[in-house]
Amino acid sequence: MPKFKYYAIFSTFLLLFFLSTFQVDAQKIPYTSQKSAKGTSAMVVSPHPLATEVGLSILKAGGNAIDATVALQFAQAVVYPRAGNIGGGGFMVIRTKDGKAITIDYREKAPAKANRNMYLDEKGDIIPGLSTKGHLAAGVPGTVDGLIQAHEQYGKLPFTQLIQPAIELAQKGYPISQTEADRLNRFQDDFKAVNDEPNPFIKANWQEGDVLQQTKLAETLARIQKKGRAGFYKGKTAKAIVREMKEGNGIISRRDLSKYKAQWRDPVEGQYKSYKIISMPPPSSGGLALIQLLKMVEPYPIEQWGFHDPRTIHLMAEAERRAYADRSQHLGDMDFYPVPVDSLLAATYIKDRMKDFSPDKATLSSDILAGEFQGVMKESFETTHSSIVDAEGNAVSLTTTLNSNFGCKVWVDEGGFFLNNEMDDFSSKPGVPNQFGLVGAEANAIAAGKRMLSSMTPTIIEKDGEVFMVIGAPGGSTIITAVFQVFLNVAAFDMPLEKAVEASRFHHQWLPDRILIEKDGLSKALQEKLKAMGHQLSEVNYMAVIKAIQRLQDGSWQGVGDERNPDDDARGY
Ligand code: DON
Repeated sequence: MPKFKYYAIFSTFLLLFFLSTFQVDAQKIPYTSQKSAKGTSAMVVSPHPLATEVGLSILKAGGNAIDATVALQFAQAVVYPRAGNIGGGGFMVIRTKDGKAITIDYREKAPAKANRNMYLDEKGDIIPGLSTKGHLAAGVPGTVDGLIQAHEQYGKLPFTQLIQPAIELAQKGYPISQTEADRLNRFQDDFKAVNDEPNPFIKANWQEGDVLQQTKLAETLARIQKKGRAGFYKGKTAKAIVREMKEGNGIISRRDLSKYKAQWRDPVEGQYKSYKIISMPPPSSGGLALIQLLKMVEPYPIEQWGFHDPRTIHLMAEAERRAYADRSQHLGDMDFYPVPVDSLLAATYIKDRMKDFSPDKATLSSDILAGEFQGVMKESFETTHSSIVDAEGNAVSLTTTLNSNFGCKVWVDEGGFFLNNEMDDFSSKPGVPNQFGLVGAEANAIAAGKRMLSSMTPTIIEKDGEVFMVIGAPGGSTIITAVFQVFLNVAAFDMPLEKAVEASRFHHQWLPDRILIEKDGLSKALQEKLKAMGHQLSEVNYMAVIKAIQRLQDGSWQGVGDERNPDDDARGY
C-alpha cells in the first residue's frame, strides 16, 4: 500500500478518535448556569451553558482560545439561535500570548443591489419595518468566513474537530431553557409572517425542556466542516439563501455571497491611567467611543466622588452624550468613509469636547450638534458576547449578532438558520433613528458592499503588559456605556468583578436627550439630584448584558456572566 494511503487511513482514524472524544452530551449538562467562576489556567464566559461547555472541552483538549472561540461560536449558532448565528456577523478581538493584538471584522455587508434610499417611500419617508423584518433587512452574512479565517491564522486543532460539537447538538437536539422557550413563544407570529411551515421553530407553546432539533442546520454545518467557506458561500447553502431571497423579495445574490470576505484590522488602542484599552475599530463605534469616554472622564477625581455619586453619574452621562454625538456624525465603515480616528482620539480634541461641560448642569444635546430625534428602543437587547482566555496566555473577546432576536425572522428553509436584520444599523435616512434610537449621517449611509456601523465593543484591557480584563456585551447602543461603566466599577471604584457587573447602569446616547436608567437602579433621591441638574430620566428593565473575565492579583482568572441573562454561564479550570 503506498505511503500516502497509510497516512490517509491514519489521519482519518485520528480524526474519528478526536471527534468521539469531544462529543458534548447535551442531555447531561444541567441548565443551572453558573454566573461566576474561578480558574487558575483558563476561563470561558458565554450566554449559554452548552456553548461554554463546548469552549471548555476544546481548551481541555489542547485547543487554544481561538479554537475554543470558533467551536463555541458554532455551538452557539445551535443552542442560542436568537443571536448566535451563521446567518449574521460579528467582531473578534484577539490578544495572542506574545502580546500581539489584532481584530477580525466579519460584520455583514450591504448586498450589491442595496442603495441609500432602499427603505424610503416615494415621499422620502421611512417605510416602517422594512429594515428590520423580512428578507430585505438582511445583510450578507460574515460569521462563517470570520471564524474560518480566525482559525486559519491562529487555530491549533483541526477545523473539522471544532465544528463537530455544533453538528451533534443540531442533529440530536437539546432541551431548551425557560428563557429560550419564552423567546420562541414571543416571536411565533413573526416567524409565521415570513416563513413557510414546517419549520422547527414554529410550534405552539414551547416549554422548558422541549427538545429543539435542527437537522437542516446540522447538514449545513456538515457542509462547512467538509468544504470550509465554500460550504456556506457557495453550492447548496448559497443556493438555499438565494432561493429564500427570491421567495421574499430579498436582494442577496450568489455573487454577494461568493465575494464576501472578513477583514483583519488593527485594533483601536488607548490608555486610561495604567490600563491599555484594546478594542474594535470601525465599522464598530465601540472601541473609539469607549476610549473617548475614558479619556473624557480621566481628568476628574471620580475615585473620590465615588460610585453613583451624582457628580460621577453627571460627568459620565455628559461624556456619553458627547461621544455618541460624535458617533452619529463621524463613524461608519472606514472602507467607504474617511473616519477621522486619530482626530477623534487626539488629546486636544477630547479636551475641547469637554470644554462646555458644566459640573452642575446638563448640557442640551441640541447645543452639541444639531439633529432631530424621536428615538425609542423597541426590542430587548439580543446579541451575544463571549470572553475566553486559555492556559497559554491567549485571550479572545468576541461579540456576534443577528441584530434583533432571530434577526429578520427569516429562516433559510434549506439551510436551517436565521438571517440577520443588520441593515437596520445603517442610517436609512439622516437624522431618523433606528431601532436603538440611534441616528446617523453620511458616514453611515447605505451603499452596496458597505458595512453598517455597530456598537459592539469586544475589548481586551491590559495592565502592566498583561491581560487584565476581557469584556463585552450584547445590548445595542447600550453596549458601549456598559463596558465603560463595568470597567470603571473595577478600575476606579475597586469593586470585585461580580459586583461590578451586577451594579445598575445608566446610559446616555446624545439623542434622545435623556439618561436611561435600569428599573430600581438609582435611588429616588439620586434621581431627584440628577433631574435638578437638568437631566431627564427614563426607565428600562435592563440594559446590556456583560460577560467579563478579570485577572486577579494571584494571577488566577475570575469569570463573570450577568444575572440580566438567566443563561449566562462562566466556567474555568
Ligand atoms: O451592531 C450593533 O450595534 C447591533 N446590531 C447590536 C445589536 C444588539 O446588541 C442587539 N441586542 N442585544
